[in-house]
Amino acid sequence: MNLAAHIESPLYRTIQREAEALGIEVYIIGGFVRDILLNRPNTDIDLVANTRGLELAQACARALGVRKVDIFKTYGTAHFRFKDLDIEFVNARKESYSSDSRKPSVEQGTLEDDQNRRDFTINALAISMQAHNYGDVIDPFDGIADLENKILRTPLDPNITYSDDPLRMMRAVRFANQLHFRIEEDSFQAIKRNCERLSIVSMERITTELNKIIMCNKPSVGFKLLFDTGLLHRFFPEMVKLHGIEKRNGIAHKDNFYHTLQVLDNICESTDNLWLRWSAIMHDIAKPPTKRFEEEIGWTFHGHEDVGARWVPKIFARLKLPLDHQMKYVQKLVLLHLRPIALTKEAISDSAIRRLLFEAGDDIDDLMKLCRADITSKNEAKVQRYLANYEIVVEKLVELEEKDRVRNFQPPITGEDIMRIFALAPGREIGIIKNAIKEAILDGIIHNDYNEAYQLMLAEANKMGLQPAIGE
Ligand code: CTP
Repeated sequence: MNLAAHIESPLYRTIQREAEALGIEVYIIGGFVRDILLNRPNTDIDLVANTRGLELAQACARALGVRKVDIFKTYGTAHFRFKDLDIEFVNARKESYSSDSRKPSVEQGTLEDDQNRRDFTINALAISMQAHNYGDVIDPFDGIADLENKILRTPLDPNITYSDDPLRMMRAVRFANQLHFRIEEDSFQAIKRNCERLSIVSMERITTELNKIIMCNKPSVGFKLLFDTGLLHRFFPEMVKLHGIEKRNGIAHKDNFYHTLQVLDNICESTDNLWLRWSAIMHDIAKPPTKRFEEEIGWTFHGHEDVGARWVPKIFARLKLPLDHQMKYVQKLVLLHLRPIALTKEAISDSAIRRLLFEAGDDIDDLMKLCRADITSKNEAKVQRYLANYEIVVEKLVELEEKDRVRNFQPPITGEDIMRIFALAPGREIGIIKNAIKEAILDGIIHNDYNEAYQLMLAEANKMGLQPAIGE
């Protein structure tokens, strides 16, 4: 196979010329070649030279008018940006890893050595940039056939490839999910055997792969593979505990692992927001410790939304996910995820809807997406009933938001107003009055209006024996 037509631009020809001038060989290798054949966009070009790769990088940068070249001497790599492309140069290497670290010791090697030490046959393809065979694909492990057959296979014995760099086990799952490929059986078994080796990989790298899985169209595929290989157990035991059903008096609860995955797949149809997807993963995370069997009702999970919300910071910290607004957002959605549908269990009051709007604020639409995604059941009648309730809540939300605008509710009278009007120093009375105003508005006793709030403030203050120092 020859891919010269894909590498005809002046950039590639410059690399060819500079390599020729240095008297060395250079190849494009890895994901970029794979993605040409899969017709996927890729802006990371990896080049491997038989020797003097760093000099080649500098010569190419000079010829292309690029001023900044990053040289990483310890790894023997050089990188520069050219237009929207990231171009990385390395020397072909033979690597051997030690058992307790991902950091390889690097030795000079041939192109073939370099291809041998890559993760999958489809990522070990190289394109020659030498004039005599420009564009020829060098495919020692039948990577092209594996691309056609949609198979992930390691170039060497999978036990070696995975234990050399255990992150590759996560990558196998991620590629299987992203590219709709199958992990070849020996590889799959090797991952199962080696999954505890993930412990030498940094959490950040594991999470980067996990987030790529979550951003796939149908992440349940990746999560099922993580579960079946035992990888998930290494870093997300809370999710593993969702797996399984229990039966008592002939009543079984649903398998919350597969339910969570269904909710995740559902939400992926309506959002690309990674954190909303994370909310789906976390929404029932505390069902196992809150599970009870109550004779009259059956299985219950009372308070799982509270416990789950409390777990979010701890799980995010362990997974090295961000702990600021993204974490708070997930926490809020987990806490509120039952509220919209729970409202329909009683006659839906305006005040309950107002409170929900107030608590969810700008995240109300995302919360409703989560609720919608959470309606899963094998029982079609049940699904239809929940959907009808869901629609009622959505309508009510729109109606009340238009009327009252409580989504980003700001009380019409502030703490400072109260202090000024009653000539008070900061103290608990102010909080009591402010809260009474907020509650009255949310309960619909008064409108979200200054004058009505003013009258209520006077009445509340009066109960505490306070008189205004100034009239308004
Ligand atoms: N590679 C590897 N083992 C790893 C990571 C990378 O063998 N743990 C090799 C593969 O040949 C891979 C190349 O390095 O194709 C580049 O890696 P990277 O840029 O991380 O991934 P891509 O395969 O390009 O895929 P993506 O951009 O989707 O991450």
